[in-house]
Amino acid sequence: MNALAPALTVTRDLLTGTEWSPAVVRELNHLAADIKARPDRYRRALGGRFLALIFEKPSLRTRVTFEVGIQGMGGGAVFLDHTGTRLGARESIGDVARNLERWVHGIVVRTYEQRVLDELAARAAIPVINALSDRFHPCQALADFFTLEERFGGLRGLKLAYVGDGNNVCHSLLVAGARVGAHVRVATPPSYEPDAETVAEARRAARETHGKIELFHAAEEAVAGAQAVYTDVWASMGQEHEAAERAAIFAPYQVNQALMDLAGPDSVFLHCLPAHRGEEVTDAVMDSPRSIVFDQAENRLHVQKAILLMLLS
Ligand code: CP
Repeated sequence: MNALAPALTVTRDLLTGTEWSPAVVRELNHLAADIKARPDRYRRALGGRFLALIFEKPSLRTRVTFEVGIQGMGGGAVFLDHTGTRLGARESIGDVARNLERWVHGIVVRTYEQRVLDELAARAAIPVINALSDRFHPCQALADFFTLEERFGGLRGLKLAYVGDGNNVCHSLLVAGARVGAHVRVATPPSYEPDAETVAEARRAARETHGKIELFHAAEEAVAGAQAVYTDVWASMGQEHEAAERAAIFAPYQVNQALMDLAGPDSVFLHCLPAHRGEEVTDAVMDSPRSIVFDQAENRLHVQKAILLMLLS
């Protein structure tokens, strides 16, 4: 047991974010804040531990922050580029898991289908971390709420408006937001809502924390009085062929100055990045003093270090 690790018992894997209780998320934020304030204390926290990073999709932030985070705590990262071949194509996912568990202490996976993560986790005896799937992006949302806690000093009752596609980032904001007691308002075009099962799970979790989950179709309704306005690209990785069709459907959901003017006076703008400037967000909003998108990106590093310590210590 690592002396720097939290006392709380956590699950072996982080696959969806739903496996973590509100208490675990609080502990994560506490640990991430200490890691950010005193990184030297954690220089050897992962000493002698290795992780495999399997990415089926491109990445800037997730790859760099995991690699720097692992190496910054004395561990080693092995990057396996699967952007050209899907996991399971060369050998079964189970066999990949049973090989990797002999060499490394954890697997970080960016994939398309959530079932790939589930299968790896079922077959490997080491932690599996979701670094983005089509359904969830838990590391992103956890870092986002850490960023909001830094900014506002607390998360209970915080009004976050997510505007755009009911995608993986939206799902993870619902899951994490429910656990921190936030008031998450989602505005999507009809037929692009977050999936009903995830919304129901978030509403169940929000009952415990006095959080609130609301769905809208009008961006203006979701944003009115919000403290944080969040958006993401309209066509996620793998949906590029739908980009033109989606551009027309999502145009009323652009986060521009007029929409930000409806939010609260001290409101901030968030985006998981990469951004398509001029589509889901204007340059003026991205580059405004209210934009905290690069704080979010920085905090991926600190929060993922905390996730690694919670799962591997
Ligand atoms: N936000 C995010 O996950 O960025 P990357 O796709 O660059 O990793």
